[in-house]
Amino acid sequence: MALYYFFLCTLFALSLSFCGTSAVNYKVTNDAANIPGGIRFTNEIGIPYTKQIMRSINNYVWTTILEQSDPADRKPVPTMSIYIVEFKGAEGITWGDNINISSVYLEGYQGDVKWEFTSLLHHEITHVFQWNGEGQAPVGLIEGVADYTILKANYFPPGFAEPGSGDRWDQGYDFTARFLEYCDGIVPGFVAKLNKMMRFSFDVKYFEDLTGKPVDQLWQEYKAQYGNVV
Ligand SMILES: *[C@@H]1O[C@H](CO)[C@@H](O)[C@H](O)[C@H]1NC(C)=O
Ligand SMILES: [Zn+2]
Repeated sequence: MALYYFFLCTLFALSLSFCGTSAVNYKVTNDAANIPGGIRFTNEIGIPYTKQIMRSINNYVWTTILEQSDPADRKPVPTMSIYIVEFKGAEGITWGDNINISSVYLEGYQGDVKWEFTSLLHHEITHVFQWNGEGQAPVGLIEGVADYTILKANYFPPGFAEPGSGDRWDQGYDFTARFLEYCDGIVPGFVAKLNKMMRFSFDVKYFEDLTGKPVDQLWQEYKAQYGNVV
């Protein structure tokens, strides 16, 4: 039996990734199916669409954002799960390989909730696959990389930070995403390279290792480029 299975794997591995280590299973559970936000999810988004974009965003993060064409570079994720759950205080929460999306948020969103959900998943799915220096990287940088995916994918809403805005490089979210965009203009693939260095540790000197300039100097030059003095 084991031999037979091995034979099947050998036969199919190349064409189907049947037994490959980088194939991710996608699971979606609507734990709010009987309350307004969960009903809106079913009517305007749905599980089939969610599974489809989980796959396409996952591939986008691997190829375009993190540039991990070698599966050995990728974070091992056997199954990524999304739960639609009733909770307040955040739009979504990523915990391990799982993402909880707030039904309260979906219920109250004014506008195209399917577009907004897709935008939000670009952020949360990045969290699933990015490295965080085994917890040593600043939260603002982690959130900035997640929003960088939204920016690059052109899924950013009106009100997303303009280039040159913000007070600190590690302010987080859209502000840090714009700074990372600037760094990417200096060193192509900057975010992918930085992420790779962040697999097991973090040091603010990684910015200097990649660009030749300390992060504070980069931030000052970034601000100056847009006419802001810090
Ligand atoms: C996310 O939702 C699942 C399913 O309802 C629940 O078991 C889990 O505790 C939630 N996680 C967080 C971090 O809230
Ligand atoms: Zn986040």
